[in-house]
Parts: sequence; structure tokens; C-alpha cells
Amino acid sequence: MLIGIPKEIKNHEYRVGMTPPSVRELVENGHQVIVETGAGIGIGVTDADYIAAGAKMLPTASDIFAKAEMIIKVKEPQPVECHMLREGQILFTYLHLAPDPEQAKLLKESQCIAIAYETVTDSHRGLPLLSPMSEVAGRMSIQAGAHCLEKAQGGSGILLGGVPGVASANVVVIGGGAAGTNAVRMAMGMEANVTVIDKSLNRLKELDMQFGAKLNTIYATKDAIEHYVLEADLVVGAVLIPGAAAPKLVTREMVKKMRPGSVMVDISIDQGGCFETSRPTTHKEPTYVTDGVVHYCVTNMPGAVPRTSTFALNNATLPFALEIANKGYKRALLENAHLRNGLNVCRGHITNAAVAAELKQPYVEATVALEMDTISTTVHAA
Ligand SMILES: NC(=O)c1ccc[n+]([C@@H]2O[C@H](COP(=O)([O-])OP(=O)(O)OC[C@H]3O[C@@H](n4cnc5c(N)ncnc54)[C@H](O)[C@@H]3O)[C@@H](O)[C@H]2O)c1
Repeated sequence: MLIGIPKEIKNHEYRVGMTPPSVRELVENGHQVIVETGAGIGIGVTDADYIAAGAKMLPTASDIFAKAEMIIKVKEPQPVECHMLREGQILFTYLHLAPDPEQAKLLKESQCIAIAYETVTDSHRGLPLLSPMSEVAGRMSIQAGAHCLEKAQGGSGILLGGVPGVASANVVVIGGGAAGTNAVRMAMGMEANVTVIDKSLNRLKELDMQFGAKLNTIYATKDAIEHYVLEADLVVGAVLIPGAAAPKLVTREMVKKMRPGSVMVDISIDQGGCFETSRPTTHKEPTYVTDGVVHYCVTNMPGAVPRTSTFALNNATLPFALEIANKGYKRALLENAHLRNGLNVCRGHITNAAVAAELKQPYVEATVALEMDTISTTVHAA
């Protein structure tokens, strides 16, 4: 298969769809890879690195879109990219279509086969192409929180790990999933006093087994959240109710009672945030202060570390990219139900029930759309 990697064009997006090691894997599996000149520049990867991995460089995105059978990206296609997509071309990337009717319309019009990273599933009821970014955000939350606790950043001037003779900071992580576990791990590594609060007892049991007695695991009740938040120097919000807005677990009243200069990092902000006082911020202006408490609510935290994020994302996407390239999209999607869950748009049909419901558009089951695709291709061939 001929696979194309265009340079990302969304504002401040430096990640790239495939790294040179991934390109090499694709090439060794008998595929050809074309990469837009300068695609890896934002993560310190040169054109020479891609060429050494077996790719061919082409000067513009339109060259890539015009030739490739499958486009691999990171962010949802921007309108100019949607207009370059061709009938039957495979698009493998994050789409986040539910709140984006304009993109859905353009993808339908293009008649492409759009597979969204965020809805691919695994056998543990997880989202394997989303979790690498939660891992990055979770680890970053402690780094960002520690920085915000510095006096010059408006923080209370507490060092997370303390020093001999001086107490460490109290870190409270609400939600112990992919992001929360990684936050816990970093905070424990920095020798803070760490408490994780979750409403899943199974999750708390797993965390207890993983981290042992040094981690305080607490079942989520309003009472527990209030108690631990009021004693915290740093609170990390990392809850998720799939498909729903994040519940507001820390109220404005609680924030008012926190120690001045305490810090709150709301990772769940991309789902609306789990603190009542949260509002989305950017890497340019990541924090604001409400009721004396520093809030960090950046919606695309992994964007700050695009090199790590690109490699982490590639580790998860490469096996699926190889499967699509090796088998062709139809066979790959029909044989792998988890990959099929990623199919959002197939030749003009919305094939993800949640996306169709959200956009109030007709839903066609993925297998049905793929069968129709076979029929139309056969008729066309005949
Ligand atoms: N801001 C960013 O840049 C960024 C990056 C990646 C992920 N995220 C977001 O981080 C959030 C967490 O993602 P994840 O992959 O860790 O999810 P996850 O599903 O792995 O974990 C969520 C955890 O929250 C717990 N939970 C749900 N409701 C709860 C409640 N009421 N009280 C306590 N715990 C509760 C669940 O039991 C689960 O353990 C998501 O909103 C995700 O979109 C944000």
C-alpha cells in the first residue's frame, strides 16, 4: 500500500503521524511511504531520518493526498485537508467528530474511509489509541503542578518532595485510570504524600497492589473528596465517564476553603473539567487564579511534549496501521472488531452510533457500510 504522512497544520500542532522507526516497519512489510517535506521538524526529526527509514519525501501536502492510498495523521483533518481527500482513500487519525458537524459533512462528501483513533477499542474495554495521551497528560500533570507551586508562579512555595526535616506536599489525584495512575506514579516518585480517590473499588484494589502501602487509596464520596482536597497542596482531576461530560467533583465552596497558593490541575478539562472553577486554558497562558488557588486547565497537554507524544502514539497506532496496510481496509475492518469500532465514516455513511446520534444523522452499521462498499466496488469494476 502507498501510505502518506502529511505535515500537521493545526495551530501549534508539532506531532506527526508516523515516526521514522514506524516508516521502516511499514517499508519492511512491503509498503511504500511518502512523507511531506519538513513533517517531523517539530519533534526534531529530519527529512534525512525519514529517507534513511525508506520514505520518499514530497514537497507539498497536495502531493501526498493526491497519491497515497492511506493518509496517517494526528489531528482531525482541517477543511483544506478534507477537500484533498479522495473517494476510497483511507484516513487514519484522531477525528473527534461528535462536536464537529462541518468536518463530518466534508468527510462524507469526500467518500473516504475515515478511521478514528479515539474510538478504536481493545479487549479490556479500553481505548488503546487514546490511552497513550492520557499517560502523557498524567505524567505531565505533576510536572506542571510542581512548577505552579513555585512562589513565582503564584503557588504556595512548597517543594513536592520536601527535604529531610520538612514535610512533603500533599498530592490528591481524583480518578485513578490511565491519566491518574501516571500522575500517582510521578508524584510518588517525587516523594510527595499521595492520595488517589476513585469510585471504582476494583481500580483502587489494583492501585493498592501496584503501589503498596505508600499510596493512600480512598473511595470517592463527597465527604472524602472535601476532606482530602482541603488538605491538599496539589489536586489533579483525572476522572472520565466515557462519552459524558466530567462530573464537577470539586465545588467552588471547596476551592474557597483551600489553602492560598494551592494548585489544581484539571486533566479532565477536555471533557468539561471536574472542578467547578475550571475553564479551558492554552499552553500560551496555562494558568489562572481563582479564590487564591492556581488552576492549570490546558486541554491539549501532550502538545507540550510532541516528541514523546508522537513516539507514544506511534507505539499504539503502528500495529493497526500495519494491519490495514497488510490486509487492505475492508478485510482488516471486517476481521478485527476493535479496529472496526474506529470506523466513523465509510463512503458517505456515518458508521459510529454515538457520532451519528450526536450529529443527528442516519447511522449505518460498519459491516453493512463495508458490504455496500463491496457491492458498489464490484458494480464499478464490472
Ligand atoms: N487535558 C489533556 O490534554 C488530556 C490528555 C489526555 C486525556 N485527557 C482526559 O483525562 C481524563 C481521564 O482519562 P483516562 O484515560 O485516565 O480515563 P480512564 O477511564 O482511564 O480513568 C478514569 C477514572 O475516573 C474514575 N471515575 C469516574 N467517575 C468518577 C467519580 N465520580 N469519582 C471518582 N472517580 C471517578 C474511573 O473509575 C476511572 O478509574 C479524560 O477526560 C481524558 O479525556 C486529557
